[in-house]
Amino acid sequence: MIPVLAPTPENLQRAAEALRRGELVGMPTETVYGLAADARNPSALARVFEVKQRPFFDPLIVHIAETSDLDDLCHVSQEAEILMGAFWPGPLTLVLAKKESVPDLATSGLPSVAVRMPAHPVARALLRAAGLALAAPSANPFGGLSPTTAEHVAAAFATGIDCVLDGGPCEIGVESTVVGWENGEARLLRAGGIPLEAIEKALGKKVLPPAPAGEAGEAQTGPQLSPGALPWHYAPRTPLKLLETGTMATATPGDGNEDTDTASLPLSARAGLITFGPEAGPSGRIPAGVNIERVENLSPAGRLDEAAANLFAALHRMDGAGLDVIYAPLVPETGLGRAINDRLRKAAAKKKHET
Ligand code: TXA
Ligand code: MG
Repeated sequence: MIPVLAPTPENLQRAAEALRRGELVGMPTETVYGLAADARNPSALARVFEVKQRPFFDPLIVHIAETSDLDDLCHVSQEAEILMGAFWPGPLTLVLAKKESVPDLATSGLPSVAVRMPAHPVARALLRAAGLALAAPSANPFGGLSPTTAEHVAAAFATGIDCVLDGGPCEIGVESTVVGWENGEARLLRAGGIPLEAIEKALGKKVLPPAPAGEAGEAQTGPQLSPGALPWHYAPRTPLKLLETGTMATATPGDGNEDTDTASLPLSARAGLITFGPEAGPSGRIPAGVNIERVENLSPAGRLDEAAANLFAALHRMDGAGLDVIYAPLVPETGLGRAINDRLRKAAAKKKHET
């Protein structure tokens, strides 16, 4: 069992020493928990990939405590500086031209490095205590649900991590927004905790949308713009099916409109239903023979920030309940809704990909 430790000064020192020795530490951030390692120690980075079973083509985010820590990591463009001023510390990651001292393992050999200054006080205290830049992917096995509590991290890994610092439940609940530049044009690489609208407002211009994701499993030829943008990700073990707004899973047996996946459910399938907003409830058309055993409303008030904060914890609970299927709605595609829908679509795509 990986020790889950309160962030006392002694435990912060212990975690900092473990990091300096090249070991891994579960680190709370305001978005999700990270699996932190010394960003300049290639063997520590290799352990991150090994423990997460993460493919080496998916580069890591380097976390820093002060903007001066960027000096020997990357070149900071004018637009990057504007975004740092507006959103750091906070849930925004910038992909910038890297400097030599960044190991190839951190960037998957790309000429760019992803950097972020987290806002969580425990992350900041750990960065300072360690005196290191920390590479930290989300602390979950590759492709699985992201952790938003220390217990999620401890439950996901049996060994390989020195300890997890308990910073409480993550306030934002979805990963950072990732922005990069392509021929000088800003592009959203991953929707996340800072809404696209806020980024466009700060820059005073439109930002390019994420490039269409390559098919998972497709041969990786040459560096991609955002290798982590696979079409499946963030998935519970239980199959997840999306209920598009206004089109709850429709299946009148024999009308030719059956969801083909639903056809493969066992008789009397046990389902979980995730809902959003005051009107939500199992009122839509769920296929006959499916028993809704568990319902969780991400935000009865219909607030997207509350829904983001609850998303992964609700999926973890549903996933632990021994259900045959989880139904989830898409939320309005605005503000944090973009990040929520991105995670839900990718979670739903995983099972399709596997079958
Ligand atoms: O909120 C977060 O960002 C969390 C917490 C722990 O900080 N971390 C996180 O890390 O979500 P991870 O490894 O799960 O996601 C990193 C994302 C991936 O989509 C990856 O492809 C992208 O950042 N990325 C990293 N370096 C990149 C680069 N050089 N170019 C393009 N995309 C990059
Ligand atoms: Mg992740």
